[in-house]
Amino acid sequence: VKHPRITVIGAGNMGGALLGGILKSGVARPEDVMATTGTEAKARQVAERHGVRAVAKMNLEAAQAADIVILAVKPGKMSGVLTEIRPGLRVGQIVVSLAAAYPIGLVERVLDLPIPIFRAMPNIPVIVEEGATGMARNAHATIEQAAIVESIFRPLGPVCWVEEDQLHAVTAVSGSGPAYIYMVIEAMIAGALKQGLPHDVATKLAEQTVLGAAKLVRETGLHPAILRDQVITPGGVTISAIHELEKHGLRSMLISAIETAARHSRQVTDSLVKRYEEKP
Ligand SMILES: NC(=O)c1ccc[n+]([C@@H]2O[C@H](COP(=O)([O-])OP(=O)(O)OC[C@H]3O[C@@H](n4cnc5c(N)ncnc54)[C@H](OP(=O)(O)O)[C@@H]3O)[C@@H](O)[C@H]2O)c1
Repeated sequence: VKHPRITVIGAGNMGGALLGGILKSGVARPEDVMATTGTEAKARQVAERHGVRAVAKMNLEAAQAADIVILAVKPGKMSGVLTEIRPGLRVGQIVVSLAAAYPIGLVERVLDLPIPIFRAMPNIPVIVEEGATGMARNAHATIEQAAIVESIFRPLGPVCWVEEDQLHAVTAVSGSGPAYIYMVIEAMIAGALKQGLPHDVATKLAEQTVLGAAKLVRETGLHPAILRDQVITPGGVTISAIHELEKHGLRSMLISAIETAARHSRQVTDSLVKRYEEKP
């Protein structure tokens, strides 16, 4: 498709960020992009901000009008919205779901159509075009369609293709990950304040340190352990801080956090499926 028509159903935080990326990168023309929301007020806001047609509800019409339908409503609303748009879908369209933990198999069951279905797990820095997105697809999706879907997310940050089951791990690492890093930044600011640095200086130093350290990992391709070693002077200051972090189990803590989050993500999937089976 040369100029794909894209509909974003549920243009909230994530759907809105995606809209911004689609328009900025020129993947689709503004006149070919449409968004839906739950409320009129939000629809007006989206239309104003992005200069695209935005309507409250009317998901069926909006889905019908698109080549690519992106679902960005909360996971609990997915089954309802899928049932709603089902009559408007046809072979030839592409469906992309952002709903965390909502499995492709359930989308297939509700839609019951032989169409390509993609599941994307982006994270919130997509807002500043530094997101990380894990992506999986069903058996109907072709390589060409995967390339089209990737081109929608690529302007917002790197896209990693995984098996669907691995999306639980993706959720635990990069989906929820920004929250962990915010805690690290917050704690570094607190440490700086405790040493008497002013708020603005503390914040600037902490945020830039995280950004810079990540950039160095990306640009050198070196393992972080090697980069860490380069900061350490024998008998110096850094190693005494590292000893303290090791004593308190920083690395072990993060490994466990990711393990717990992935397990929780599986449980959410199970309960979404169970809920649909009890009340389709
Ligand atoms: N936020 C993240 O970091 C993140 C990361 C990965 C995946 N996700 C996934 O992205 C999805 C959206 O999350 P979010 O954080 O963007 O939530 P959100 O800001 O609450 O966005 C949901 C949007 O859906 C709209 N909506 C509600 N009912 C609707 C309906 N019947 N028809 C059409 N639109 C409807 C809401 O409209 P109103 O504003 O008018 O109520 C709202 O704008 C979720 O499934 C989540 O799992 C989020």
